[in-house]
Amino acid sequence: MNVTELNEHYGQPGLRFAEGAGELIYAEIDNAGGSARICLQGAHIVGWRPKDQTEPVVWVSDQAKYGPGKSIRGGVPVCWPWFGPHASESAFPGHGFARTTMWQVTGSETLADGATRVGFMLMPNDRTHAQFPKACRCELIATVGASLRVDLVTSNLDTETVTIGEALHTYLRIGDIADAAVTGLDGSEYVDKVDGGRRKHQAGAVMFSGEVDRVYVNTESECLIEDPVLGRRIRIAKSGGRSTVVWTPWQEKAEKMADFGPGRAGQGGWREMVCVESGNALDDVVSLAAGERHTLSVIYSAEALA
Ligand code: BG6
Repeated sequence: MNVTELNEHYGQPGLRFAEGAGELIYAEIDNAGGSARICLQGAHIVGWRPKDQTEPVVWVSDQAKYGPGKSIRGGVPVCWPWFGPHASESAFPGHGFARTTMWQVTGSETLADGATRVGFMLMPNDRTHAQFPKACRCELIATVGASLRVDLVTSNLDTETVTIGEALHTYLRIGDIADAAVTGLDGSEYVDKVDGGRRKHQAGAVMFSGEVDRVYVNTESECLIEDPVLGRRIRIAKSGGRSTVVWTPWQEKAEKMADFGPGRAGQGGWREMVCVESGNALDDVVSLAAGERHTLSVIYSAEALA
């Protein structure tokens, strides 16, 4: 569908479709509760701000690259049908192909509370089929308002069991990574990717003074990002997800990447974000018998620090 057809079929008072950066099509949402943009490539949410916040809650790099087949630095990349490197094929893209594949819009709705809901379905093609030869449907439902809810629904339409890894690789806007703390993971086991994949246990809050790349397993806990600089707390509540990934590249790694940018304060965009990703990875990958369906749901919200 082109932009005109999308607007005719799915336009809502708070939702319109438009062509934007990289000549890609975006769902642009602006309602009483909040605003967001969602790129049809990847069903990738590229920013969300509740109306009561002056700063966005979902962060996007000012140097993000937009274009066919490019993954966008920031927002809510969808990792599916695997998380991290592919188990056996190193040539396959890290975090799967969902974030660089076109999705189609399947529906839209304005809810009674004024929130806007948009549904998307991943469109399989020869490339995705070659990398994942399974009849599996992947849908994303975004509900945008004063909070942001994302449901990632996998349906196994195959005749055999299918195993998937997945994550909503969300970049959250914070004042300064050196002052932020992530709580909710105390006592959880994690795989430390910056220490040779060693298994460790979290003690207290996650604090940052260097690169952090950790996959916490077997945890369904809500996580909070405490941000004294912006004076707010970001709440990340999930269901259907047993893994939480916490990632900051820190300075050296970020500077090797072309798409982090200088950030608002000019001290590096990497200082102004942290990824707290909700999903099912490593020990927690999901096996779906023929005909089964699985939903990962995450709700993001922000509140003032007391
Ligand atoms: C995290 C991984 O989820 O994503 C990191 O744990 C990775 O290892 C990071 O570096 C970013 O990945 P990408 O492919 O978006 O650059």
